[in-house]
Amino acid sequence: MADQATKLRRIIKNTSSAAQTRPLARVITVTSGKGGVGKSNVAINLAIQFRKMGQRVIILDADFGLANIEIMFGTVPKHNLCDLIYQGKNIKEIITWGPMGVGFISGGSGISGMYNLSRDYLVYIIVNLAELDAIADTIIVDTGAGISDAVLEFLVASGEIILVTTPEPTSITDSYSLLKALNHHPRFSRTDTVIKTVSNRVESEAEGEQLYHKLSAVSNRYLKLPLTYLGAIPQDPQLAKAVMQQLPVSLANPSAKSVRSFENIAQKLCPGQGASEMVRTRGMAAFFSHIIKSRKLENEAELTSAKEPASIAGRTGTSG
Ligand SMILES: Nc1ncnc2c1ncn2[C@@H]1O[C@H](COP(=O)(O)OP(=O)(O)OP(=O)(O)O)[C@@H](O)[C@H]1O
Ligand SMILES: [Mg+2]
Repeated sequence: MADQATKLRRIIKNTSSAAQTRPLARVITVTSGKGGVGKSNVAINLAIQFRKMGQRVIILDADFGLANIEIMFGTVPKHNLCDLIYQGKNIKEIITWGPMGVGFISGGSGISGMYNLSRDYLVYIIVNLAELDAIADTIIVDTGAGISDAVLEFLVASGEIILVTTPEPTSITDSYSLLKALNHHPRFSRTDTVIKTVSNRVESEAEGEQLYHKLSAVSNRYLKLPLTYLGAIPQDPQLAKAVMQQLPVSLANPSAKSVRSFENIAQKLCPGQGASEMVRTRGMAAFFSHIIKSRKLENEAELTSAKEPASIAGRTGTSG
C-alpha cells in the first residue's frame, strides 16, 4: 500500500501547481446567515440540474447532526463521514446514491470532530477525500444554519460561495453579518473567493434584484466586498410540497416555477457547459487541507513522519 504521507505530498503538489496533473472537482459551498432560508433546497436542486447537464455531482451535507440532505432525498445512508474517520471505511463506501445518481456524503458529527484528531488521522482523511476529485465534477457543500466557526471554516476554504437570502429583514441583516464575519476571518482571501447570491422566496424577479442590490450596496460600502447575482427563486408551493414528499422539486414537479429558476441558476454557473467560464478550482484535498491548515499539513518536513494510523491500516470490512 502506498505510504499515506507520500500520497498527501503528491495531492498537495497537484492542487497547488498551475499545471494540475489531473482534473479537480469544483467545490461550491451553499450558505446563509439565517437558517431555514432554502440552502438545502438550492443544494439538491442545483445538483439535479448539474446531473441533467451530464456532470457527476456529490453533495457534502455539512450540517452536522441535522441530516438535511438524506431527509430531502428520502434515502437513509448506511455510512457517514464518521465511518471514514473512525471505522476505516473508504470514500466510496460512505457515498450514498440518491435520485438521478446524485451522490451525497452525510457529515454526521465527523467534521466538527476533525479538529480533535491526530495528524495521522487527518492525513488519512485528506488522502481519501482527495479521491472525490476523481469521482465528481462538482461537489456541493451544504452548510448548517447560522454563523458558527465551523461554517466559517468551510467558507474560507471555498473558492465559490452561494449565499442564499430571502426578503425577510432578518435574513438580509443575517446575510450581512455572515459577510462581515467572513471578511474578518484571518484566513479569508477576497481575491480567491467569489460570492454569488441567490434571492429565495421572492414574489417577483424585481424583488429578487432589489434584494441583491440592497445586500450588494452594504457589502461594497462597508466591507468593500463585491457580490455577484445568480438570480431569484420564487415563493413556490410546489417546492414546499416536494419537500413533504422527500423529493427535490426538480424531480417531483419539473414544470414548477421554482424549477425554471434552478435551471437558470445552473446555466449561469456553467455557461456553455464549462467551455468558456474559467472556474478557479482547488479541489477537495485543498478544501479540506485548508480547513485544518492550523495543523500545517502542507509542511513537507512534518509529513515525512506521517504514517497511516495502525487502527486504520489494519481495517477490515467491519461495519459502523
Ligand atoms: N422557494 C420556496 N418556496 C416555498 N417554500 C420554500 C422555498 N424555499 C424554501 N422553502 C421552505 O423552507 C423550508 C426550509 O428550506 P431548506 O431546508 O432548504 O432551508 P435551509 O436553509 O437548508 O434550512 P436549515 O438552515 O435548517 O438547514 C423548506 O422545507 C420549504 O418548506
Ligand atoms: Mg439545510
